[in-house]
Amino acid sequence: MDAIEALVTRKSSAMLTTPAPGKDDLKLIMQAAVRAPDHCRLRPWRFIVFEGAARERLGHIFEEALKARDPDATEAMLQKERGKPMRAPMIIAVIARIEEHPKVPEVEQILSAGAAAQNIMVAAHALGYAGIWRTGKTCFDPQVNAALGASDADQIVGFLYLGTTERTPVLLEEPIDPYVEIWEG
Ligand SMILES: Cc1cc2nc3c(=O)[nH]c(=O)nc-3n(C[C@H](O)[C@H](O)[C@H](O)COP(=O)(O)O)c2cc1C
Repeated sequence: MDAIEALVTRKSSAMLTTPAPGKDDLKLIMQAAVRAPDHCRLRPWRFIVFEGAARERLGHIFEEALKARDPDATEAMLQKERGKPMRAPMIIAVIARIEEHPKVPEVEQILSAGAAAQNIMVAAHALGYAGIWRTGKTCFDPQVNAALGASDADQIVGFLYLGTTERTPVLLEEPIDPYVEIWEG
């Protein structure tokens, strides 16, 4: 699949199964990630890949964080939280590593990590995989940051769920006119 085709046909899939990207494909996907634009070459990103039993440990982190956020969470809510990482065979956490910089404000560092995340999504699609970018309260929870070895200043920009879909997503027409202006000042 060429680059333009990958860009204009990427679609999220929530129902994901095996296979996840193998070693060689994962390497290509991560090479695409680190090509994201990056002001002053800070490399403001970190990627953590979860597969197999590591997803269960991530689920445990999610569950403990929910318990702390909401002491009234029911067993059903905790079970749902714990099970979230099991929705795909591979998850990549994308974390913006924020540093104080005279020229590069925090928002630019988060944008770079977001661009890396999008490169992952498109590269995975181009290689025939499917996925969905998810966030939620876990991405804004200091307990989750700490469990993943991130500082309070760091920002989890997403958990990218990757795998394969058996359902080819329907591509609806995506209008561009409402969003694009040719400036004629
Ligand atoms: C930063 C970010 C966070 C998102 N968080 C969630 C999420 O937590 N749950 C979810 O179902 N979709 C989330 N989405 C949206 C999906 O990734 C996806 O873009 C959306 O379902 C539309 O599908 P499409 O990508 O095929 O257009 C998020 C997207 C972005 C960019």
